[in-house]
Amino acid sequence: MKPINVGLLGLGTVGSGTIEVLRRNGEEISRRAGRKIRITHASARDITKPRPVSLEGVIVVADPSAIVTNPDIDIVCELIGGDTTAKALVLQAIDNGKHVVTANKALLAKHGNEIFAAAQRKKVMVAFEAAVAGGVPIIKALREGLSANRIEWIAGIINGTSNFILSEMRSRGASFDAILKEAQAKGYAEADPTFDIEGIDAAHKLTILSAIAFGVPVQFDKAYTEGISKLTDKDITYAEQLGYRIKLLGITKHVPTGIELRVHPTLIPSKRLIANVEGVMNAILVKGDAVGASMYYGRGAGAEPTASAVIADLVDVTRMLTADPEQRVPHLAFQPDQLHDTPILPMGKVETAYYLRLSAFDRPGVMADVTRILADNSISIDAMLQKEAEEGEDVVDVIILTHRCLEEQANSAIAKIEALSSLANKVVRIRLEELN
Ligand code: NDP
Ligand code: HSE
Repeated sequence: MKPINVGLLGLGTVGSGTIEVLRRNGEEISRRAGRKIRITHASARDITKPRPVSLEGVIVVADPSAIVTNPDIDIVCELIGGDTTAKALVLQAIDNGKHVVTANKALLAKHGNEIFAAAQRKKVMVAFEAAVAGGVPIIKALREGLSANRIEWIAGIINGTSNFILSEMRSRGASFDAILKEAQAKGYAEADPTFDIEGIDAAHKLTILSAIAFGVPVQFDKAYTEGISKLTDKDITYAEQLGYRIKLLGITKHVPTGIELRVHPTLIPSKRLIANVEGVMNAILVKGDAVGASMYYGRGAGAEPTASAVIADLVDVTRMLTADPEQRVPHLAFQPDQLHDTPILPMGKVETAYYLRLSAFDRPGVMADVTRILADNSISIDAMLQKEAEEGEDVVDVIILTHRCLEEQANSAIAKIEALSSLANKVVRIRLEELN
């Protein structure tokens, strides 16, 4: 059978990894796909730059449009990143009747609805396994393996760079900046690393997971996003003393009033499997009504883990090329005319528990004031810990763990606590999930 010709847009970390794995495992991949898959063309900004892989047999061009319009190319693989040039090229490829494989979560979280609609019209596939959790086949699991279930919630460590930073801060006490540089050198970090640190990359991925889990359009603009840049060693240590670890979690949950879509640092009990996911590893915990909880774990970033997912998509597209477009797996798991408009809840309406750290002057009555404010806001205390003041200091750290309440109740209580004259600093608030 005629080989499938692939045009790669981008020869960076993932593009080079894809060439390498396809070359190394090409024979087995063809046996699975039913025909040979070969990269015939690739584009990069600087075509003279040395690459970590041999480009023998690949025509390398500086103009990516030459690939998306080339009639000999069957599948365009977009590995550039960002949502400007990549968006134009993906839409151009679809318009030219090409199937598309992409690892670009930013693009799909922001423009997925438009891209999938264009692909639907042109009867082409857009595959994106690598866009969420790198090498972990979570898209396939959610879209196909769990299709019998009503999904209740998903909680995931879906940014390798931030998990790497948090793990190294906790275990080595290394500095934030030094660990970030290490993640960049290893090719884990996004072109703009604030996407990793500020939770934006995780929110892109969570937006895609939420759409597939609940059958709603992608709505990145409604995601609540808070990163790890303001976390301190102190809170990591106190959390540990209380039996918790802090992870940057993406949480999406179907509740009676709507859908929660939020990324933020979260305390989770140290005994949970997901709390022990360290380094660049990702893990996604999915709760389905029939299957119960299941967890998907693996490398969330890096050249070859991501190439593994990109090539799995190339194989899938190759196998489905001749299938009736109506019979293919829908892009967002649900048939396009069956998407619901369930609202994404504003953060104030989200219910969660809290870790609160108060820096208070060591005076009589402070705790009475704080507990009264919490009670007035119907917030119940689960645990409380007062640390001894440092030598010569009259400010003590008080840690309060609350039971679940609405975020708007917590906001109101925190504002009143911060107005007390006995508080030396702003309250540190980290959300807490038991995940049981
Ligand atoms: P890199 O920055 O390593 O590579 C990007 C490639 O695209 C480079 O070859 C670059 O050319 C080319 N490029 C950049 N801008 C343009 C442009 N305007 N026009 C044409 N070509 C351009 O990125 P990654 O390989 O790390 O990431 C690629 C995609 O995969 C992104 O969407 C990323 O989010 C996603 N991803 C990355 C993972 C990872 O671990 N790195 C994991 C999962 C997903 P040149 O080399 O000449 O500069
Ligand atoms: N920058 C991303 C991460 C790459 O660190 O997880 C994988 O999407």
